[in-house]
Amino acid sequence: MEKVPLCVVGCGGMGHRHILAYKVLEESGIGNVELMAVCDVNRANAEFAAREVQRLFGREPLIFTDMDSMLKRDDILAVDVVTDVSVHHQVAVPALLAGKHALVEKPLGITMRACQAMIDAARTGNAVLATAENYRRDPPNRLARAIVESGLLGDPFLMIQASAGGSDRITITPWRHLKEKGAIGLDMGVHYGDIIQYYMGDYAHVFGGGFIVEPVRRRPDGYDDHPLESYRERAKTYPESVEATGEDSVVALYRMRSGALAQLVLVAGRGGRGRERSVHGRWGALYSPGDRNGRPVVLRLEGKELKGREILSLLPDFHLDEITERLFGADGVEYDPSATSFYEIDSRHLAIEYHDFAQAILTGGQPEVDGLGGMQAVAAIVGAYESAHAGRSLSMEEIMGGAVRAYQQDIDEALGLA
Ligand SMILES: NC(=O)c1ccc[n+]([C@@H]2O[C@H](COP(=O)([O-])OP(=O)(O)OC[C@H]3O[C@@H](n4cnc5c(N)ncnc54)[C@H](O)[C@@H]3O)[C@@H](O)[C@H]2O)c1
Repeated sequence: MEKVPLCVVGCGGMGHRHILAYKVLEESGIGNVELMAVCDVNRANAEFAAREVQRLFGREPLIFTDMDSMLKRDDILAVDVVTDVSVHHQVAVPALLAGKHALVEKPLGITMRACQAMIDAARTGNAVLATAENYRRDPPNRLARAIVESGLLGDPFLMIQASAGGSDRITITPWRHLKEKGAIGLDMGVHYGDIIQYYMGDYAHVFGGGFIVEPVRRRPDGYDDHPLESYRERAKTYPESVEATGEDSVVALYRMRSGALAQLVLVAGRGGRGRERSVHGRWGALYSPGDRNGRPVVLRLEGKELKGREILSLLPDFHLDEITERLFGADGVEYDPSATSFYEIDSRHLAIEYHDFAQAILTGGQPEVDGLGGMQAVAAIVGAYESAHAGRSLSMEEIMGGAVRAYQQDIDEALGLA
């Protein structure tokens, strides 16, 4: 087998982006996935996705509106789970138990129990479970991590990951403001939870909390002109307002296993605006540009400052992997985002993560972010919320092992995981 036959499950906004990205993977010349089916409980979304596959690939995919009939197909070997967060485990667990490999969008699951259920099912079904974490695939993030690993900064003692700014409008979808559905603090925060562990290694302890900055979210403007039809259509169904029950913001301080500290600030509401991603060591600091903007990483060492490609002279062994090089170029650690659309850049990152997933299946290897890696990123955010409940810092063992779960209790009950 050269290509993994796969079904996309969940054909909303991100499902649409996934289909665009499968085309980019195919055009890379080393495509290793065959997109053969789409599945969504909402028939209109499944049919829209099928039309997109037809438009892009010139062939009709199989269309499913329920999982059971899809899982009976022996010719589908893998699923790409792109449903809303609270449904991930409901889709992935039966698929994994049926022996289908699963790539699951971040956040892997909505609670620790949801994540653990998928990890257990992968083991039972002897199937690959991967988490779709796209931010780390951006070449500037690859370079930043290589700088940290190289020792150029000395032992890093601090990472700051801060992002503040937003509005009181519905952020992407109404479900992103509801605790039992996977609110934006988790949905967005987990990207940063993954970036921190990618740069700094494993988490040991967390202290923090989440909060709701915007208690009422109003219907957004501007979707009429959105470049993606799925986004335009989805926004037509939004209510005038949504009362938020889930956190839109999270602040946490982590002790990493290395002994370093990492600070996370995510405020997705009004009030303040600013961003920082930096790592500090005794000999210098690096400043990362954020994600999907192609700007150069800045490295400050005693008496000098290097940017982007200039840094490569200090890292002779650094190189991008084959698929990343094909999509961004060998010197892609800086790129000009204005030369292409956001969705083209986004598709490249997603294509890299699919390639990694399919290689793990084809070679019997491990995906870069497996179930455990995905669960740890979720634990970084949920752990901050649990720490606020408990009124103390928590170890990752307490969070991941389920010893502390007061915050998650009602979500687990609502989803039959209690
Ligand atoms: N990595 C990124 O940059 C990024 C960006 C956006 C969204 N996401 C992730 O993608 C996922 C989906 O987000 P979205 O914005 O597309 O949500 P969405 O609400 O637009 O789409 C979800 C789709 O899943 C379908 N669905 C729900 N339950 C289902 C089931 N049991 N079987 C089949 N289909 C089902 C819905 O009908 C809908 O079409 C989330 O996990 C989100 O965090 C990731």
